Amino acid sequence: MSQRLQSTSNIWVTGASSGIGEALTKALIEQGHHLVVTGRRQEALDELQQFGGESVTTARADTTSREDLAAIADTLESNGDLNMAVLNAGTCEYLDISEYDSEVIEKNLTTNVVGTARSLDIALPALRRTINKGKQATVVIVSSSAWWFPFGRAEGYGASKAALTYFAQALRADLAAEGIDVVVVSPGFVKTPLTDKNDFPMPFLVTAEDAADRIVRGLQKGKREIVFPKRFTWSLKLLGALPQTLIDRMSASMSRKNG
Ligand SMILES: NC(=O)c1ccc[n+]([C@@H]2O[C@H](COP(=O)([O-])OP(=O)(O)OC[C@H]3O[C@@H](n4cnc5c(N)ncnc54)[C@H](OP(=O)(O)O)[C@@H]3O)[C@@H](O)[C@H]2O)c1
Repeated sequence: MSQRLQSTSNIWVTGASSGIGEALTKALIEQGHHLVVTGRRQEALDELQQFGGESVTTARADTTSREDLAAIADTLESNGDLNMAVLNAGTCEYLDISEYDSEVIEKNLTTNVVGTARSLDIALPALRRTINKGKQATVVIVSSSAWWFPFGRAEGYGASKAALTYFAQALRADLAAEGIDVVVVSPGFVKTPLTDKNDFPMPFLVTAEDAADRIVRGLQKGKREIVFPKRFTWSLKLLGALPQTLIDRMSASMSRKNG
């Protein structure tokens, strides 16, 4: 049985100001854990502060900014040794192929990959101090299953999540000897402000609360890969196993329909 989240834990959640991060923060507070939560929107952080009272410390930080992150480094240990860093902050920007602009690709990569990597600049030293005291330390990286199939318009988002998953799994290999676990979360569609802007069908959409519940249960079970909802992710896996020519035809046809 995994020891993760079995006793009161000190957890940092990035991108806690809405969607999955907010729902996860609330679920963890309700279970009695101590949270440090960050995001860019102060008002949303203030609401979380009100919700969690003394269980929560909030701090404004843009995860793409080294300066912002350096300024909150000490805050991560304000509740004691840091047991878990949930690196969830992310964005999804779609490409309009008729007005191709590489900035869309850059924005996705900067927030989703570089922002996550920079968050580790401050999380890893704190987690190392924890593991060196014989306590549990876990990095949780919220990626996506979107990159398992080449969806039109998702060039930037899919590339960023493919890169992020590789980053996380290679990090897992490097940190294994130190005993620091790296968990990758790969959700399908979750109803949040990020997906509210989508103008296409989202099969097997789950609520942010449901997503948070699945993440917490996966962490408690000691999983290193948390993938949900299964009906969606299995469908994507099956599609991804088709010959490339068939995949290309299907994704081009979907792109025409959704374009
Ligand atoms: N919703 C889905 O269907 C779905 C599926 C698969 C994976 N995901 C992933 O789940 C994560 C959370 O997404 P969500 O759906 O919950 O979207 P969301 O409601 O838009 O939440 C995104 C969070 O990230 C924060 N954020 C964005 N850019 C940031 C930056 N530069 N610095 C600091 N914080 C930043 C936002 O806070 P501020 O605006 O306050 O900074 C917000 O709290 C993302 O990594 C997303 O890719 C979502």
